[in-house]
Amino acid sequence: MTLQELSAYVAAEFEKTYGRPPRWIAAAPGRVNLIGEHTDYNDGFVLPMAIEFYSVMAADRPVDGKNVITLRSTLEKEVATIDLSAPVQPAPPKWGNYPRGVVAGFLARGQNPGGLDVLLHSTVPLGSGLSSSAALEVCTATLIETVTGKTIDPVEKALLCQQAEHHFANVPCGIMDQFISALGREGHLLLLDCRTRATQLVPMSDPSVALLILNTNVKHELGSGEYARRRAECEQAAKIIGVASLRDATPDQLERSREKMSEVVYRRARHVIGEIERTVHAAEGIRASNWPTVGVLMYASHAALRDDYEVSCAELDVIVELAQSIGLNGGVYGCRMTGGGFGGCCVALVQADAVPAIARKIGADYKARTGIDATIFASRPAAGATIIQG
Ligand code: GLA
Repeated sequence: MTLQELSAYVAAEFEKTYGRPPRWIAAAPGRVNLIGEHTDYNDGFVLPMAIEFYSVMAADRPVDGKNVITLRSTLEKEVATIDLSAPVQPAPPKWGNYPRGVVAGFLARGQNPGGLDVLLHSTVPLGSGLSSSAALEVCTATLIETVTGKTIDPVEKALLCQQAEHHFANVPCGIMDQFISALGREGHLLLLDCRTRATQLVPMSDPSVALLILNTNVKHELGSGEYARRRAECEQAAKIIGVASLRDATPDQLERSREKMSEVVYRRARHVIGEIERTVHAAEGIRASNWPTVGVLMYASHAALRDDYEVSCAELDVIVELAQSIGLNGGVYGCRMTGGGFGGCCVALVQADAVPAIARKIGADYKARTGIDATIFASRPAAGATIIQG
């Protein structure tokens, strides 16, 4: 479904739900990260792209004129309401906390959207490492910009959404997901320096290669504490080495401090320091269309996430093994887990004309090994958040 078709669907659903057509429609995409995992909160580099899967919100003023935002979702039974005449705090239902946090952020800036009837629909698979939550946050922010007629700087917008995730969903995430959902560019990956927030567009338009997203269909839960623990371990490593963040640490410095840290903290830091370097090299490889080199870096990234950072899981490892066994001769350059980990998706860099054969083979072998049906699809790099009807 194109974004236009998706919006028409959401507009029709809004009319069914509220009995009148929507006045505003906004959308924000999910993302896949090609490389640079668990580097964003270490001031490092990431290389994501927005994907052609979106959160879409249609809205209108409520007929009763009340100062309340009513949020309904095509995917959730429970209705979320935000009373704008009282302080906005986290509250059930859980899914409503992402928009709730964003509304709180806008109110703190003095930008009050006023009462709204909202209908949400999302095609970003939930809990799959494709940033369904960031898409929902950035979609809410874009809707508020549309309604108030006042856009904010996109970097500030991403930061506001990140704060919503920190304080209303309790995930101390980095900036990557909200950033790419707000600032993605069609046909491009974004090399983001998470320290300076400087970006470079990396064209990804060679028709001979494609990016496959392979969903293990094992759901992940970043709020479970593992994510926060990794973040704390990285901070500990930086402190022991004597640098502001692991972005500043070299492999030599890490080796010199090895005795002063636990084996686990050492391995966490080894992943991050290596991954930051791999990400910069991968961006160079893509610019030069040096696909085999990019593929090698992707496999190395996965191995470090599996062995040193310990955020992979059996099903993600199976997909990477299957991709690796097809190999270059079968059209696979590289494959790795993407996103926070503990389930979710892999991303594979493949030859475009081999996509159907690769998807068939991995799908069948994954089912045979795990008993689970994977969902496999390709996506071109999409544009970031957009106002569809304003
Ligand atoms: C999640 C977080 C991001 C990032 C990734 C891991 O998606 O939201 O900020 O840390 O995990 O790279």
